[in-house]
Amino acid sequence: MNAPDDLTPALRDNIEQVLFSADDLDERLAEVAKQMDADYAGQELLLVGVLKGAFVLMADLARHLTTPVSVDFMAVSSYGSSTKTSGVVRILKDLDTDIEGKHVVVVEDIIDSGLTLDYLVRYLRSRNPASIEVFALLTKPAAHRVEVPVKYRGFEVPDLFVVGYGLDFAELYRNLPFIATLKPAAYGG
Ligand code: IMP
Ligand code: MG
Repeated sequence: MNAPDDLTPALRDNIEQVLFSADDLDERLAEVAKQMDADYAGQELLLVGVLKGAFVLMADLARHLTTPVSVDFMAVSSYGSSTKTSGVVRILKDLDTDIEGKHVVVVEDIIDSGLTLDYLVRYLRSRNPASIEVFALLTKPAAHRVEVPVKYRGFEVPDLFVVGYGLDFAELYRNLPFIATLKPAAYGG
């Protein structure tokens, strides 16, 4: 897919290929939300979004759900402004709420090595939620090695660096309504 016509040239010129359009994402989220509504029927759900990447996804997923939902956010450091994992997970912002006895779904934009998620889920489990599951919009091939089971998945992506729909390169492109790869020139290389 090519980039839509209504983008500014500054964005358009940097996009190589659109992997998932806004419609693709919306359709898949509606399906996942339906599954979650069935799984949590008669219960309340706490969505924990992992900032910053999950901010767009959280808003769209929450609006597809009919289950009573509350939301909270955590921020962890993973990749600085480069495209390679640092191997260091640091909590920059903790939860505002107590999750003890609650049904929690951690909402992640993408799982690559799984390092971030693995750490996060073990950390949240120690606070005794009633249950804890994971939704990852995108999973890369290496994600299959993750110990943490990912119950809800959006799409599998090849081992490419992708941006849009919350995902950034050097903090840019998060506002694109679709998911795309960038031209090599966009990395300044
Ligand atoms: P992991 O710890 O290797 O699984 O990395 C997960 C985090 O790295 C994600 O939450 C993203 O913030 C970031 N990340 C991994 N792959 C990509 C990508 O292709 N584009 C943008 N960010 C990515
Ligand atoms: Mg990032």
